[in-house]
Amino acid sequence: MGQGGEAPAQTTQETRVAALRQAFQERFGEAPRFVSRAPGRVNLIGEHTDYNGGFVFPVAINRTVLMAVAGPEAGATPGEVRIISKEYDRESVFNLNNLEKAPEAERWTNYVRGVAWALGQRGLLDPATLSGARIMLESDVPQGAGLSSSAALEIATALALFQLAGTPAASLNRAKIALACQLAENGFVGANTGIMDQFISALGQPDSALLIDTRSLEYRAVPLGFADRGLKLVAVNSAVPHRHDTGGYNQRRAECEEAARYLAQVYGKPENSQLRDFTLEQLLGVQGKLAPTPFKRARHVITEDARTLKTVEILERGFAHESDLSTFGRLLRESHESMRLDFEITVPEVDLLVELAWNQPGVVGARMTGGGFGGCTVNVVEEKALDAFSEQVWQKYRQETGLDARMYIFDAVEGGSILE
Ligand code: GLA
Repeated sequence: MGQGGEAPAQTTQETRVAALRQAFQERFGEAPRFVSRAPGRVNLIGEHTDYNGGFVFPVAINRTVLMAVAGPEAGATPGEVRIISKEYDRESVFNLNNLEKAPEAERWTNYVRGVAWALGQRGLLDPATLSGARIMLESDVPQGAGLSSSAALEIATALALFQLAGTPAASLNRAKIALACQLAENGFVGANTGIMDQFISALGQPDSALLIDTRSLEYRAVPLGFADRGLKLVAVNSAVPHRHDTGGYNQRRAECEEAARYLAQVYGKPENSQLRDFTLEQLLGVQGKLAPTPFKRARHVITEDARTLKTVEILERGFAHESDLSTFGRLLRESHESMRLDFEITVPEVDLLVELAWNQPGVVGARMTGGGFGGCTVNVVEEKALDAFSEQVWQKYRQETGLDARMYIFDAVEGGSILE
């Protein structure tokens, strides 16, 4: 990309792994036993549908958490985990026999502690059977950008703990691991998030997005086919950080549940029905009776599920119809508008970023991606238009907000793995 706000050229994973191994060696005086890796994600479409039993269509990206791991130091207290963040030179110590929330200054380790706790809760791995660990972690998933840096940390942790327990990654039930990592987030960290981020980080596939039915957890990989069409997947970070464990996200979830309860009553469906179980016609049937806020939230979710399935259809037929590319772009745009007006989770800076993208030649489509209240946009851009896109969007965004938009070009990669 040309000058402007592009993020610094990415160091290859190989280089990062080598540097991490070296830093581990220097710090602990011996080599790590293995490195566990897990990717962040961008969601192409299907936002805030996952905790409503609906469909999501995310991509695992070539930005990853890496964890170098060895057993405990000789003479360490049984169960002791010593974890160091390579980038921030921070250290935290906790014990697998006594998993508690970290003090505020070490809250970055709650995802690690929480996963150990959740695997135990789910009966997948008893953390007390592990002798302990030394971990050094490094991540190039932008934090607070809505790219699931925390889910990547959770999946990398889960794979590392299984590896320490002698269970090879290939034999694991990854859907169950994703569910346990979601439990870590919900029951330990305290963010009421859905299953999407952990699932894609565990199960992502190269060059593909995954259509996930978040109720049955059935999924299938759909090739993006972008390379054949000279298209690139670009995320633009608004530099407005987001956080889920407070406020808006949990509130949206409650509003969706309120709408689903109301619809279930009216249409005589089981009490535990979710918005997934209702059609737009059924929702429109209660307009004026259901309170306006839950009504709008439900309208977003129900129409978003339909847009997601439509998008999948287009990609699966390889953009075969002449209008497919423009329909794809329109669906992304409608998704954004629905998040802006009905779900009310966008912020003015993010709205500006998508508008700048929409006005830029060579942009197929753009929308906010992730939980909202800041974070990133996802853009599908013609490769030949990338330089101008990057320059123009960065400059105009800077002029209007004073903020530096960061650009990332992503490839779709495989989900978490162990590098021996
Ligand atoms: C966050 C959550 C996901 C999902 C998205 C919104 O990323 O972790 O479960 O709800 O927001 O689509």
